[in-house]
Amino acid sequence: MSYSSNGADAGSTSESAFTSAPNTAPIPSPAAVHAPWLRDAVFYEVYPQSFNDTNADGIGDLPGVTAKLDYIASLGATAIWLNPCFDSPFQDAGYDVRDYKKVAPRYGTNQDLVDLFAAAHERGMHVLLDLVAGHTSDEHPWFRASSQPERNEFSDRYIWTTSWVEGAPGLPFIGGVAPRNGTYILNFFACQPALNYGFARQEKPWMQSPDSPAARATRDAMVDVMLYWLELGADGFRCDMADSLVKYDDDRRTHTIAAWRDMIGRVRERFPQAAFVSEWGRPTLSLTAGFDMDFYLDWRWDGNPNGYCMLARDTDSQIGGAPDASFFRATSGTGAARFVREYLPQYEESRGNGYFCFITCNHDCARLAPRLSPREEQIAFTMFLTMPGVPYIYYGDEIGMSYRELPTKEGGYTRTGTRTPMQWNGGANRGFSDAPAEKLYLPVDTSSDAPTVAAQEADPESQLNYVRALTALRHETPALQSDGLFTVLHASDDDRAFVYARTAADGSSVVVALNPGLEPAAVELESVPAGVGGQVLLSRGGSAALEGSRIVLPAQSATILR
Ligand code: NOJ
Ligand code: CA
Repeated sequence: MSYSSNGADAGSTSESAFTSAPNTAPIPSPAAVHAPWLRDAVFYEVYPQSFNDTNADGIGDLPGVTAKLDYIASLGATAIWLNPCFDSPFQDAGYDVRDYKKVAPRYGTNQDLVDLFAAAHERGMHVLLDLVAGHTSDEHPWFRASSQPERNEFSDRYIWTTSWVEGAPGLPFIGGVAPRNGTYILNFFACQPALNYGFARQEKPWMQSPDSPAARATRDAMVDVMLYWLELGADGFRCDMADSLVKYDDDRRTHTIAAWRDMIGRVRERFPQAAFVSEWGRPTLSLTAGFDMDFYLDWRWDGNPNGYCMLARDTDSQIGGAPDASFFRATSGTGAARFVREYLPQYEESRGNGYFCFITCNHDCARLAPRLSPREEQIAFTMFLTMPGVPYIYYGDEIGMSYRELPTKEGGYTRTGTRTPMQWNGGANRGFSDAPAEKLYLPVDTSSDAPTVAAQEADPESQLNYVRALTALRHETPALQSDGLFTVLHASDDDRAFVYARTAADGSSVVVALNPGLEPAAVELESVPAGVGGQVLLSRGGSAALEGSRIVLPAQSATILR
């Protein structure tokens, strides 16, 4: 039994119709003109506090990122997503912005950020900043002014009720702390009041419309922030919690989409090449809002995984120990068909409008190691780096850095263990910092088997060198790049093999064959793309062999063939 487009198990007739059909649906005209460099981009997410400390204060900094650009480029990464680096009280690791136009002193100066942009551009690389559009810190001057009882320019920049004790149905609120007679609505933590982009349904007199002057002023302010950094050399933005700007929006996020179209549209009038990636997770919506890219996010609610989690994170314990149904787990018994059922309709519907992007991890979810073994992780990376869209590598994943159980830091809670210092070498603090170990932002992993860049550089079989080989192959193979078509050749609920083709505009194809299971697999492919004869381009755990339309996959292997 394989998969069907409507989510139900399909019989063999519709299965073969589905799997053998070449992917020839017309590509819808793009909602936006995407920067051409996105067609072959690979992103590297840098969490600045944990990457490289150049002034021995125990915290990573922007000169530290600049100093490592050649390393980042050596991974085949062409662009960086930099987590928030702006002035902040750091109650949510910088997602609580106090000044959007000022680099946090602990990371350096605005000039250091400008220098990073320039150094990246010299190398043909691009830098996206993190735009926290939905909320600020409660220490932001806008919020301070907004909290005052006297009317002022910022009174409606946030969402205030007219009651000293009530909030609004379904929305968290804070009362009892501001001189103004009202409670205010939160976006996330208590330190993060929601900016006012209006309400789709104005159920109370204080709920303003998305077309109100106040909501427009919020959008103007965010456009102003974006233009400020673009003028200084930024290449675009990763937009935090992008789906939740307008409150009480409908399921299709009609008003939030309109807000982004307005803001992105105005930015693109000045900077047509600016790139935008949304933290949204629904490309069929986000890409119509003007975003170039959306993340396939780590979503598993009440035990129900999305496609991404079906692959790598389908367990109650992200750090291991609980039953794990993830496809990439050798012992899970899970086939790839249920992933395909979830992914394919989203891919098909959004294709041509932008990119639905695979992540190895991010700063909000547990690293795959040590829950996944090195081999399991490498099979996962083979897929993440050969799928359509633009892949994102989270810093340290390229060497298989481990999640660590640590006390919370700066609002990290269980996320803290994913944010530990980069492990560069075997020296003090693993090369992250010259500060005394007790002064480090977070403890570095000093366990004897902690992977480091230096050790893996020297090992041709290392994860680091495998990631480099994968990105190198992607860059030299148009079929594997962002726009190459994706066609499933085999995915089943009954076996572990997952085989797909990627096809470039000129018709050239490659085939990716994955078998995370402990037993070899042999499957009959629904079709073999023209020109594919079984030449192995790259493999791990032994190479799959193609004989006609039959493919034999060694246990725990990943192969890319032409
Ligand atoms: C999503 C960010 O990724 C996360 O780190 C942050 O805590 C929340 N948004 C709030 O900004
Ligand atoms: Ca520092």
